[in-house]
Amino acid sequence: MSETTHNSFSTLPLSGPKGVYLAPSLLAADYSKLAEQLSDAEKAGVEVAHLDIMDGHFVPNLAMGPGLVKSIRPVTGVLFDVHLMISEPMRYVEAFADAGADHITVHVESEGNISAVIDRIHELGCSAGITLRPGTPVESLYPFLPKVELALVMTVEPGFGGQSFMESQVPKVAALRAWANAHGRPLHVEVDGGIKASNAAVVVNAGANVLVAGSSIYNKKSSVADSVAALRAAK
Ligand code: DX5
Ligand code: ZN
Repeated sequence: MSETTHNSFSTLPLSGPKGVYLAPSLLAADYSKLAEQLSDAEKAGVEVAHLDIMDGHFVPNLAMGPGLVKSIRPVTGVLFDVHLMISEPMRYVEAFADAGADHITVHVESEGNISAVIDRIHELGCSAGITLRPGTPVESLYPFLPKVELALVMTVEPGFGGQSFMESQVPKVAALRAWANAHGRPLHVEVDGGIKASNAAVVVNAGANVLVAGSSIYNKKSSVADSVAALRAAK
């Protein structure tokens, strides 16, 4: 079991000093200088880093194992938000918690007993999240909402960075925020996929308080600091 002191979403207020939380996705970073890309984001004031884990089975792509998470953990104090796009999350949650994850989100479509996976994530000292593919109805998350700290709305089909934002998914954000308000629960509502300055306001107005951003933060057009500032200034 992990001995790391976790700074998870369970202790993070819904709104930070800068308002909503930006969570740069390292999937879009330059892997030859991951540590630098991570500390650039931290210097720009982000509190969360989003780590996409893909097994080539749940999604067609492969990305990041626990060894990589462990190697970048000492670089930064930001909250490590691990998004598991893998078929059998129960087999791997302990490895990611031991590697330094603070938070672990699992897909409702993945195999096994999802409720038991959430319990295991909590036992390991992490906060837990539940997410869904764009084609999955938001109601499928409701049975799990009372026991998670975060619900993630995918605004692209999981598997690849750099895709276009699906506005059709915004009503799910509103539904999850309404559920949280109706139940008096401090639920973090995160969005992931195609988020950039031109659509950040749409998801924030719908109730999202954590915005994952890959290619709009890590790209060749502007520095990490400028991209973070542009997202923060988005209205
Ligand atoms: C997609 C991943 C995303 C991805 C987002 O499967 O879950 O986190 O990195 O990248 P952008 O922001 O480029 O769509
Ligand atoms: Zn993701």
